Amino acid sequence: MKIFDTNMTHTVLDFFKSKFCDLKLFTSANDLLFEKTGIINFFNTQYEFDKLKAIANENINIVEEPDRSEYGDFQTNFDLANNIVKFINSENFQSSIAIEPTCGKGNFILALIKNNIPLKKIYGIEIYKPYIWECKFSILNFFHTTAINAVTEIEFIHLNVFNFDFSSIAEKHLAEKILIIGNPPWVTNSKLSILNSSNLPEKTNFKKHNGFDAITGKGNFDIGEYISLMMLDAFQNHYGLMVFLLKNSVIKNILFDQKIRQYKISKIEQYNIDSKKEFNVSVDASLFCCKLNSKPELFCNEFDFYNNSKQFNSFGWFHEKFVSDISRYELSQNIDGKCQFEWRQGVKHDCSNIMELEKLDNHFVNGINQNVSIENDLIYGILKSSDLKSNVINKSRKYTIITQQRIGQDTSYIRLKFPKTFNYLEENKSTFELRKSSIYKDKPAYSIFGIGDYSFKPFKVAISGLYKNYSFNLILPQESKPLMLDDTCYFLSFDNIEFAVYSYILLNTNISKEFLKSVTFTDAKRIFTKDVLMRIDLFKISKLLNISYIEEEIDKLFLNISTSKWNTFISIISNKSIVQTNIFETINVTNP
Ligand SMILES: C[S@@+](CC[C@H](N)C(=O)[O-])C[C@H]1O[C@@H](n2cnc3c(N)ncnc32)[C@H](O)[C@@H]1O
Repeated sequence: MKIFDTNMTHTVLDFFKSKFCDLKLFTSANDLLFEKTGIINFFNTQYEFDKLKAIANENINIVEEPDRSEYGDFQTNFDLANNIVKFINSENFQSSIAIEPTCGKGNFILALIKNNIPLKKIYGIEIYKPYIWECKFSILNFFHTTAINAVTEIEFIHLNVFNFDFSSIAEKHLAEKILIIGNPPWVTNSKLSILNSSNLPEKTNFKKHNGFDAITGKGNFDIGEYISLMMLDAFQNHYGLMVFLLKNSVIKNILFDQKIRQYKISKIEQYNIDSKKEFNVSVDASLFCCKLNSKPELFCNEFDFYNNSKQFNSFGWFHEKFVSDISRYELSQNIDGKCQFEWRQGVKHDCSNIMELEKLDNHFVNGINQNVSIENDLIYGILKSSDLKSNVINKSRKYTIITQQRIGQDTSYIRLKFPKTFNYLEENKSTFELRKSSIYKDKPAYSIFGIGDYSFKPFKVAISGLYKNYSFNLILPQESKPLMLDDTCYFLSFDNIEFAVYSYILLNTNISKEFLKSVTFTDAKRIFTKDVLMRIDLFKISKLLNISYIEEEIDKLFLNISTSKWNTFISIISNKSIVQTNIFETINVTNP
């Protein structure tokens, strides 16, 4: 049955009818309920009590579940909450105060009670009142249907967690061991901005990103991360444990920022869960655990929650570097440095229906199936992440219109030089004007991004930023025109094919792949970023190879290329003006 928008069992309803219908004051009901359940102020007002009595005596109140996307609402099922409580209990955590900062329907609270964890007090904070009712009714149902007596005080606080001052609890329980437990909301500030929601902390720039980062997405954060930091700010000086279900990306961010924040946490652990099974969502998530009030640690050990006997990975800070796999990094760290060429991200236009063309029987068709008859000059073949399949690519499935040679270039030249292209763009002006991203604001009409001299160089070495594919592709011109890449890809570009081929060979060595595996997080939206790729030091890789390896790899490409420019290449990447002729003589290994 649904009461107060929440489920109440018939047992609890009958209990209410029999015990409370004759009571007049909510305070008297509260006294009885405290004794039975430990819940402080079961009813907050006389109105709530009267309303429940009326509903219980009359009929059912069924209300549709509202859309709760802005609350990152993924309630933890009881079995999972119960297994988590059993798991921490087996570690003998012995806290006396538990805090669930966004308690929802309260399965963690229920699991603590049902497992007889000897707590003095539990605090549950939640923004959505029906969930607090649901939790209260579940607890009442438990005590009503068992012979167990309540020993733990439970205080529910119906409030926006961002307005709750946790220092009040921290100060009140200075000498007590704290258990912070729960599953804070799974929603990002950018999703909230799409939903026009204000379910955000006041300090949305708590990571101190600049304006440009906000545009590029670096300023994006998960409100679960903010809540985790709120808890660490308030309780890092208390003895105890923090146990939160979090997206893996949030755990990674906490570890990354730990270098600066130096929270007093240690024994940081991540227990991976199956979020498809538990929450029916495809997001990598885990149980995050750490010990409070201890010497700050900067790395996290990773386990499987369901079979947690063996640690399978360690990630975090290793000396001055943040890495996804510490043991792998130890073996490949000698190539960590600074790439001698600049990695670039591909073209961005956010107008695929108009800007993305396909060639059908020698004419172009756009994304809305219109024939496009324009000059060839500004049309270039373009590769997306999904096109980066073979080692060497010189053909594209798609084409695009490159309206600028550099960012911000005036586009009025198109009208004079390429009238058909201009007319086509002009006819579709309204579609361009619908582009939401602020990067297009106050820019010339039909502006694109991710464009510069480098885009027009004929030879490129590229990788998809999105796929778990650690291979690099060699990109050659298509019909004498450079191939472009879209903004999901990263690339180096060269004027001569030899340099491109040498870079391609160095980047595809085992050591380069191992290094990338050790510093990238496969659950990130973008596995490879410019920052990560810029860490591959080509010169350091070259020092591990011999010339015969380079020759063998060149042969596999069937491109009629030699090692004739290798020494020049090495002198450039070594930043030395004199070419080192004997560089291959000292070290002689096969593919490292
Ligand atoms: C991922 S659910 C988890 C609920 C509960 N902790 C559990 O494990 O089942 C997140 C909860 O946070 C609540 N919530 C979202 N924004 C909140 C806010 N600003 N203040 C308090 N609670 C909030 C939601 O209503 C929801 O119940």
